[in-house]
Amino acid sequence: MATDAGTTGPGTPLPRFPDGFLWGVSTSAHQIEGAAGEREPSVWDAFAAEPGRIKDGSTAAVACDHVHRHREDVALLAGLGVDAYRFSVSWPRAGSPGGLDFYDRLVDDLCAAGVRPVPTLFHWDLPARLDWRERDTAARFAQYVSTVAERLGDRVTQWITLNEPAEHTLLGHALGVHAPGERLLFDALPVAHHQLLAHGLAVRALRAAGARHIGVANSHGPTWPASRAEADVAAADFYDMLLNRLFADPLLLGAYPAGLGELMPGDVEADLRIIAEPLDWYGINYYAPACVGAPQENGSDVGGVSVPAELPFSLREIEGYPVTDFGWPVVPEGLTELLTGFRDRYGDRLPPIVVTENGCSYEGLDDQARIAYLDGHLRALHRALAAGVDVRGYFVWSLLDNWEWAEGYTRRFGLVHVDYATQRRTPKASYAWFQEVLRAQR
Ligand code: NOJ
Repeated sequence: MATDAGTTGPGTPLPRFPDGFLWGVSTSAHQIEGAAGEREPSVWDAFAAEPGRIKDGSTAAVACDHVHRHREDVALLAGLGVDAYRFSVSWPRAGSPGGLDFYDRLVDDLCAAGVRPVPTLFHWDLPARLDWRERDTAARFAQYVSTVAERLGDRVTQWITLNEPAEHTLLGHALGVHAPGERLLFDALPVAHHQLLAHGLAVRALRAAGARHIGVANSHGPTWPASRAEADVAAADFYDMLLNRLFADPLLLGAYPAGLGELMPGDVEADLRIIAEPLDWYGINYYAPACVGAPQENGSDVGGVSVPAELPFSLREIEGYPVTDFGWPVVPEGLTELLTGFRDRYGDRLPPIVVTENGCSYEGLDDQARIAYLDGHLRALHRALAAGVDVRGYFVWSLLDNWEWAEGYTRRFGLVHVDYATQRRTPKASYAWFQEVLRAQR
């Protein structure tokens, strides 16, 4: 059979990535830390406590018990051979007595193991007493960021302000399937604006504390119209605006997509000057493209996201590709399309890109399907490099199996398996594979 198996696929070495390319893995606080009694409650604690919100009825009160086992997890990182570890600082923990001591120890241990700490300052676990509909939350975020930077800034050089504000807005506040469970539809737009403002104020706070290498982690993916029919193309364009431009345009161009600025609260022009503070790099989380069509009578339900009929688009299944256990299609070429498209859209306004998340959920320790997924996406990333896109790093989601938000413990994204009953960690086949990839790239 004529295939390109001789030059692609997990059996053959990956192409060489540029010197200094940053290799890492990612996690987030609420998904792994546990030790919920040692911090103030977050919106996710309250949400998970409501019956029917989380698929398996679980909470993240224990999760991977990482707060008490971080030494073991740092040893797994060191054994893997990554350059960097992306984790998040929990605002509810940082604000609790002694909460920053944990991150202080974690950062010390990472540095001692030769792994660069790359903290995200907000990965969805808002303190339960706060609300992104309030403008003041942005100012409070900047204060919290200053405190963290003061404490960790002598050892942390690379920072991420927010993780996926588009998902936090859409899933958490517009559709109500994530915490805080609000179903505000378009009334959720102020939540987007206040997160952007929080980001801009945080960049200023980080710079004032002497930080360099500041970025953000946004989720992006190509949007494919369900057909060439005008209604499908218009719906896809609208969805593309929500996912790919609503946050990136203000951050990189200092302007909202046409028509949106008028819907935002406050002095939007003045805020945009804060929001567009120059970034040192731009983080992209990529999982799969979306196929989008005109609204359907009963709404749509694809990949764990239900879209009601009132919204001007519906999600459709993507046919013809393998799917992960989550039902997400495996489309590595979507990453090349995304990265080259991003470069074409933002041109010299785009700082260097880092892929801050990429991964898939599969069961089992011999996770050949995860290896195939990661291998395919690394080759796709390399094609974007060859096409001249400036990508400086790649982080696998995730180091450990963890609490996958509304899906609870039912989705396993880790290179390391976690037995939640015993907290035993077992590296999967993909861990050994990634270790070998990293060795070969040195
Ligand atoms: C993006 C989010 O940042 C992360 O928290 C989540 O677990 C992964 N996607 C997988 O859904």
